[in-house]
Amino acid sequence: MKIFLRSFGCQMNKLDSNLVVNSFLQGGFEFTEEVGEADVVLVNTCSVRNHAEERVLSLLGHMKHIRKTNPKLIVAVFGCMAQRLKEDLLNHPVVNIVCGPMQIPELPRLVNGAIENTKKQKAVSENIRQKAESEILSTLDDFEQDFDSVEENLPAQAYVRVMHGCNNFCSYCVVPYVRGPEVSRPAEKIITQIKKLTDAGVKQVTLLGQTVNSYKTEKLSFADLLYAVSKIEGVEWIKFVTCYPRNFDERIFQAIIDLPKVCRYLHIPAQSGSDRILKAMNRGYTCEEYLEIINKAKEIVPDIAVAGDFIVGFPGESDEDFRKSAELIEKAQYKNSYIFKYSPRPGTRADEKLADDVPNEIKKQRNIELLAVQEKISEEINKTFVGKTVKVLVDGTSKKGHLDSANGKELPQLIGRTAGDFIVVFDGPANLAGQFVDVNITRASALTLFGEKK
Ligand code: SAH
Ligand code: SF4
Ligand code: F3S
Repeated sequence: MKIFLRSFGCQMNKLDSNLVVNSFLQGGFEFTEEVGEADVVLVNTCSVRNHAEERVLSLLGHMKHIRKTNPKLIVAVFGCMAQRLKEDLLNHPVVNIVCGPMQIPELPRLVNGAIENTKKQKAVSENIRQKAESEILSTLDDFEQDFDSVEENLPAQAYVRVMHGCNNFCSYCVVPYVRGPEVSRPAEKIITQIKKLTDAGVKQVTLLGQTVNSYKTEKLSFADLLYAVSKIEGVEWIKFVTCYPRNFDERIFQAIIDLPKVCRYLHIPAQSGSDRILKAMNRGYTCEEYLEIINKAKEIVPDIAVAGDFIVGFPGESDEDFRKSAELIEKAQYKNSYIFKYSPRPGTRADEKLADDVPNEIKKQRNIELLAVQEKISEEINKTFVGKTVKVLVDGTSKKGHLDSANGKELPQLIGRTAGDFIVVFDGPANLAGQFVDVNITRASALTLFGEKK
């Protein structure tokens, strides 16, 4: 049996897809890149913006044609959109299986069931916010422990979940409704898992949580966890995403200074620079409080690289509010920002209470403007690396050639990241994938550092 997998969404979903792939491999399935060869199509979905869901629907539309030549094709949709839409998605003519993110351990059973009889199969949480902590941990922890591995496409790297779900209920966000309540995984399990991964050759672990800095168990805070993970032999770089800018424990910054393995990189979304909008977003901090955290981080860890997220066109966002977001980008001096147009999500408070009153044209324009402000800063920051040597963990070969060098024809271009999460492109042999390499930076654009292997 051959499976074709498509995965949308954030790092959590990448991790889940990886676990699912390994569980199917162990169940005797094979994977194919050719949808025409597949007996089973698995789609891991994201609901964070409407666009993410539209892409899934268009893929499902395409599956209708494939089904014509292969009537036995099984189509399974899992992840956040499956949890959000439940039966509605199961009623889609091409869909055989709908499976929520908490039910992924059941996927092989559901697929085998669908192969045996053609009945539609569903496994989702009916009252996801009511799930008990123990239930979440017992179903998902073993699955994660059993099936995690080096991340597909990222040699020597692995994502490790430290928290499930989210309790913040930012007014625009669907995540608490599709990923359930916030639960921190026991530190012992995380550590055992990382030891296993390093034995298998992993050098970098990225600790994942929607608000990773609020990790807390009876025994440990997130700063404690960083100290504990740092002790594991074989771990060389530790990254963590995403931070939430409220109740930020400054001991995390101290841990970054104390622990050379912890990368000096902070992804800490602000979402807006306007206090009025931040309040409507239910973020629980003011722009000034946010900047205090950034400034504290830079005071304790002067070379820390900071990345942010912004939403433009949130309900009621005036030109003045928007200008404040642009000002915040200037003040925070992010290395990069992810900028999104507000997308109303059914069931969220913003969608229920606030009119989506910023016209799409203005959202688009604000998106472009904010990107331009960010691009200038990114370029200035990236230029400071020219003439310096950076340590890079190589991901693999770059899809397109970036650098015009004399011997570039024989050697593929490699792409990797620094500890500060800066993207580096340089010439070198493909077998450096998964290795640390020192690179002299010779040129920089807003997105990329270019250089030569030392
Ligand atoms: N837990 C993370 C973010 C998860 S979602 C955090 O709180 O930082 C990733 C990003 O998608 C968010 O930071 C936000 O910028 C964006 N996003 C979430 N919901 C959105 C929506 N309804 N419309 C547009 N962007 C959204
Ligand atoms: Fe969504 Fe807010 Fe939770 Fe992030 S912190 S996942 S934006 S509700
Ligand atoms: Fe991630 Fe999208 Fe779900 S951002 S948690 S895959 S809604």
